[in-house]
Amino acid sequence: MRVDLDYYEITGLYDEVRRFYSMVGEESRYLRFLAAVRDPASAYERMWSCGGRTFLVVQGRRPVALVDVTPCGEGEVEAGLVVVDSLQGRGYGTRIAEIFAALLPRLGFDAAIAEILRENAKALAIAKRLGASISCRGVVCTVKLNLRRLALKSSAVAAARAAMP
Ligand SMILES: CC(C)(COP(=O)(O)OP(=O)(O)OC[C@H]1O[C@@H](n2cnc3c(N)ncnc32)[C@H](O)[C@@H]1OP(=O)(O)O)[C@@H](O)C(=O)NCCC(=O)NCCS
Repeated sequence: MRVDLDYYEITGLYDEVRRFYSMVGEESRYLRFLAAVRDPASAYERMWSCGGRTFLVVQGRRPVALVDVTPCGEGEVEAGLVVVDSLQGRGYGTRIAEIFAALLPRLGFDAAIAEILRENAKALAIAKRLGASISCRGVVCTVKLNLRRLALKSSAVAAARAAMP
């Protein structure tokens, strides 16, 4: 899927977060936070106070997704992604995960980690597509993506494509 997506940082902007989550229902909130979250702003207050950053992904002026990245150890970042309900299942999540997998090494991270419910087939499919390691215990799976290895693989693929007649 090729779509023109842009993103900008909204860390600290509670009104932007609230506006975005008015387009995200209870089920998606649960899948994102692994908990029932009625007021997302409270979850963001905690995340941002721990050094987390939040990016709003847009297509033109239309909000598409939020990406949250919180440093969680040497070179590692915990990543969370939520696509607005009406746009889920159309390839946006896959494309956005690819964009941020390329961006995060430039922000100084070597690995991205996410906790994903075992039932969350779409999120796990994205993790598999990117080549993440996935280990599941009970209902929760921990996904770990080696960003440096992915970057090397992507540049090798690009070089092979460029060399094709
Ligand atoms: C998980 C989420 C980010 C995925 O984004 P999306 O735009 O809906 O997903 P995509 O359309 O890119 O599809 C991703 C994969 O799921 C598959 N898929 C799409 N719709 C599906 C469905 N209804 N059931 C199962 N798989 C489905 C796609 O085929 C694709 O797999 P592939 O790469 O093997 O083809 C999005 O659904 C979401 O925001 N969910 C709520 C929050 C959440 O779960 N966040 C993840 C944890 S942080």
